[in-house]
This record gives sequence, structure tokens and C-alpha cells, in this order.
Amino acid sequence: MTQVQLRQVRKQFGRFTAIENIDLDIRSGELVALLGPSGCGKTTTLRMIAGLESPTTGGIFFDDQDVSEVAVQDRNVGMVFQRYALFPHMTVEKNIAFGLSVRGTPKSEIKTRLDEIIDVVQLGEFRHRFPAQLSGGQMQRVAIARTLITKPTVLMMDEPLANLDTKLRGEMRRFIRTLQQRLGITTIFVTHDQVEAMELADRVAVIFGGHLAQFDAPEALYRHPASVDVADFMGASNIVPATLSGDDTIITSFGTLKVNRQEGMSSGAKVYAMLRNEGIDIHAAEGEAAPHLIDGRIVARDFFGASVNYVVECGDTRIIVTEQSRRLLDVGMDVRLDIAAERIWLMTG
Ligand SMILES: Nc1ncnc2c1ncn2[C@@H]1O[C@H](COP(=O)(O)OP(=O)(O)OP(=O)(O)O)[C@@H](O)[C@H]1O
Ligand SMILES: [Mg+2]
Repeated sequence: MTQVQLRQVRKQFGRFTAIENIDLDIRSGELVALLGPSGCGKTTTLRMIAGLESPTTGGIFFDDQDVSEVAVQDRNVGMVFQRYALFPHMTVEKNIAFGLSVRGTPKSEIKTRLDEIIDVVQLGEFRHRFPAQLSGGQMQRVAIARTLITKPTVLMMDEPLANLDTKLRGEMRRFIRTLQQRLGITTIFVTHDQVEAMELADRVAVIFGGHLAQFDAPEALYRHPASVDVADFMGASNIVPATLSGDDTIITSFGTLKVNRQEGMSSGAKVYAMLRNEGIDIHAAEGEAAPHLIDGRIVARDFFGASVNYVVECGDTRIIVTEQSRRLLDVGMDVRLDIAAERIWLMTG
């Protein structure tokens, strides 16, 4: 198990800065996802950790040892790519053992490790097949096994599930998670899918335009995003401008809401409030309007089976409310929204 650290790593390609002074501290045995939109620098970061690219400034450390000058083949990292070209004329076994064969590993050791790894990735019944006779998920497992058999201290995966269909992606995610936990191998997983990152990772590093925007556990990222950009990328649907009044009330264009006190924000501050759509109670509007309840009207409804989304117009703002579909409210209905203070998160920008 290896701890991986990036200290003030910057990468420049000519005059273009792809990565700006990133600090990242990956614990040994941890699974970290690098998450961000296309072109934000995920692959570049991974390539620097692997040694395929060197940082312009800053250092990369494995267990506190500076590896910046250590060549790829001596870093003992394993890489799994999106396009994991298997050798079509070799069987599953031969494909997996290839890395060891070219290194001249003794046949008996290859056999032992092959049996071990084939068991780990559950490819026993396919070991004599050729790639063309495998499904996408099975091929992906061969690609992972091919990397794992070399016993890397750090495993890196660059969008390895991108060309699998949705159902298979889900299965492969669970497979990778279980495998990683069983082997306890420090793993860095690149993806631009926030659901994939949250499902897989112990912690997620969100990268925008070469900057590390936030590095946190999935739940913290989801509930307490550091900025509107992170909230938006993590799929928050209701982000509204507001003004803080006192330390436990916000004033929005559609009403006032109670909030929990947050560090570093003072009365009168202009903020953005994230209202998690699954944290809002929706009721038919009856009786007197109460303070801190928001009046609105359902203008659209999207039924997803287990859950249902209501689009509720509150003054000039549309708020999305997600509920379980045990009951259904109708479009056109006047409703009242109850948004508990602990479901509201404030950001300054
Ligand atoms: N060798 C290179 N020379 C010049 N620019 C490069 C080079 N490699 C990457 N870049 C640029 O650096 C930026 C980051 O690229 P990178 O491949 O790391 O993005 P990414 O986050 O992996 O994107 P994607 O999700 O599309 O794979 C991009 O703007 C890219 O064009
Ligand atoms: Mg990439």
C-alpha cells in the first residue's frame, strides 16, 4: 500500500497551463476519483503520477519519497485505460500474463499468479477464450487483471468504464470497488460522471480548468459543496441567490427561510443557497400561510417510477422537488414548501 502526494504540482504545455499548483494527499489503500469536465486536466494528472509526463514545477511523492525523477517502469504503477486494446490473437490467459512474460518472469510463478488473479476477477471459465468471444465487461476485467498481475503499488484507471452500457457500468463499478477493498490497493480513478465518482470513491477530487476545486468524501461534496460550480457539477438543481439576515435567516425573491449558521458568513452577505430537491416537503396549500413556508404552484411533473420531480413556481423562481412516488400531486395545484434549515447550504460564490 502506498501513499501518493502531489505537492504544488503545475503542468504547462508550451504557454498553456493545464494544471495549476495542485496539492493532493491520497492515503494508502484509498480509492480517489478525479472528477471534472472534459479538458480539466484529469488525464494529465494521472499521467504525471504514473511518470508518463513530468510536472513543470512541484513534486510527486510515493510514501514521502520524491518520485519526480523516477521513470515509469520503476514506479510500479498499473494503468487501465478506456481503450484497453487486448491482443486479439491471444487467449485471456496469455493477455493477462503478457506483462510478466515479457519481463522474463519464471513460468511457474506466472502460473501461480495467473491462477490467483483469474480467480480474483472471476474469469475462470473464460481463460481459454479469445477477446472476440468476450462481452465488454469481461474484456474490461481482462484489462484490469492484466494490470493487477504485475502487482502495482498504485492502480490508476482512466475512464475505464466509458464504453460500457449503463447496466454493465454499474456492475463493473461494484466489481472494482469490491476488488479494490479486497486488495487494499491505492487506486486513482478518472471519470467525468459524478454518480460514478460518488459510488466508487472514498474521496473525490473535483477539478475545474486545472484547479482543484474541492477534495472531499462523496457525502460532504454532495451536502456541502465549496462553491456554486461544484454544487452545479454534483447535480444540485436549486441554487438561488439570497441575502443573509442575522445569522439564521435568508431572504430570497420568493420568501424568507431559516438556515443554520455557517462559518465565515455575516449578516447582510450576498450568498447562494442550495436547496437539495430531495430535502423539501411539499403539501397542498391550505389555511394561513406560515412564515418560512414557501407558497408556489406545481407547473410540471416528471415521473421516474420510484421517484417523481415537481417543478414548483414560487414567484419568479422555479424550484424542483423530488419525492417518492407513493402519492402523486397534480400539475396546477397550489402547494406550500417546507424547507428545513439543515437542508439548506449556503455558498459565497
Ligand atoms: N501533450 C499536450 N500538449 C498540449 N496540450 C495538452 C497536451 N495534453 C493535454 N493537453 C491539454 O491539457 C488540457 C487537459 O487535458 P487532459 O487530457 O488532462 O483533460 P481531461 O480532463 O482528461 O479531459 P477528458 O475528460 O476529455 O479526457 C486540455 O486542454 C488538453 O488540450
Ligand atoms: Mg482524459
